[in-house]
Amino acid sequence: MNVVLGITGSIAAYKTPELVRRLRDHGADVQIVMTASAEEFVTSTALQAVSGKPIRSNLWDKEAEASMSHIELARWADVVLIAPATAEIMARLAAGAASDLLTTLCLATEAPIAIAPAMNHVMWANAAVQANRTMLQDRGVRILGPDAGSQACGETGSGRMLDPAEIAAVVCGGQIAAQASEQLLAGKTVLVTAGPTREPIDPVRYITNRSSGKMGYAVAAAAAAQGAKVILVSGPVSLAEPAGIEVIYAGTAEEMYSAIHERVSDADIFIAAAAVSDYRPANAARQKIKKNAETMSIDLVRSRDILASVASLPAAPFTVGFAAETEKVRDYALGKLKSKKLDMIIANRVGDDCGFDRDDNAVEVYWQGGEQAYPQAAKTELARQIIQLVANRYEKESNAIH
Ligand SMILES: Cc1cc2nc3c(=O)[nH]c(=O)nc-3n(C[C@H](O)[C@H](O)[C@H](O)COP(=O)(O)O)c2cc1C
Repeated sequence: MNVVLGITGSIAAYKTPELVRRLRDHGADVQIVMTASAEEFVTSTALQAVSGKPIRSNLWDKEAEASMSHIELARWADVVLIAPATAEIMARLAAGAASDLLTTLCLATEAPIAIAPAMNHVMWANAAVQANRTMLQDRGVRILGPDAGSQACGETGSGRMLDPAEIAAVVCGGQIAAQASEQLLAGKTVLVTAGPTREPIDPVRYITNRSSGKMGYAVAAAAAAQGAKVILVSGPVSLAEPAGIEVIYAGTAEEMYSAIHERVSDADIFIAAAAVSDYRPANAARQKIKKNAETMSIDLVRSRDILASVASLPAAPFTVGFAAETEKVRDYALGKLKSKKLDMIIANRVGDDCGFDRDDNAVEVYWQGGEQAYPQAAKTELARQIIQLVANRYEKESNAIH
């Protein structure tokens, strides 16, 4: 994703080297455009070092214009992100000004524009600023934040720039880009599972696995970015709830099974990214098990298979499974696709160096008569590509049925 990052003259500009790094972690190519005031707060040397590209700031820079003109820059962008965005740049954008490089390229671009305002809370509450915000929003500019909290001026209130990691996740999760183009899942309901389950042994111990839930959460966010109503059934994870998504928490495999079957009739698409425990202790002890014998054993019983149970429903949604395997990934994935009668399976190798609890992943996707490999990429980027493929296959299969 090509991101033009506009940086304006707010004290929050000191956070932009971090923002550039987070955007690049998601696989974005970042071209920075600074206003003259921004250069008072953060050096172009630091930003050039983290972005790996010369900084653009002057509309009248003949050399830079000759290599990539402001119009080419406007065309190159998949997204224009202005972070931090001052009250001043909001006013210039609202007025349709073209007084410097950043405002000129904002007028010349067809890419979606997102801004992350940052200013003193009294400035943010000012009627002129709020009128500009509303005007920009009505024209399709995405407003990210601001956050409330303590401010650089020593006061507390609403006006802090959103956290760089949060801005990068929204921009690179496709939420901004998808808004402008046609959304692939508008009007559809997507049910997603994510994370591990915990199967109690006694009141203080449980059996679980290494799933972090990051892939499932990224898939849920990517589906929402494509306009779907998303219901996320989540195991215990330490991730923030994605904005605009209904989250239902389920601790055990049985709880997840019930939650899914309560909501599956609403779903057009079901994506099972959770790592559900295949077995659970036959009888969880009511009290903490004491350390007596030298050895002990726990009887395990099979959990009900959520994925197979959904795929075999008479009015099953388009059903997508995940297969995390340590070996024979392709064979096991194809076996699971067939035996569980899935519409699609997304397979990945897991081990110490890949898969679980990481921000990136590589997957292979299989369906009846087709397959596609996605090389190592940030989970948010992979989720964006997977959702495009799911939407595409879902549409083809729905058309084939009707
Ligand atoms: C120390 C200092 C901090 C400032 N912080 C902010 C800020 O956080 N938000 C804001 O809207 N303006 C802030 N300003 C004012 C802007 O820098 C000023 O309005 C400038 O014209 C913005 O230009 P630009 O939007 O082209 O970068 C600050 C000014 C100074 C001197």
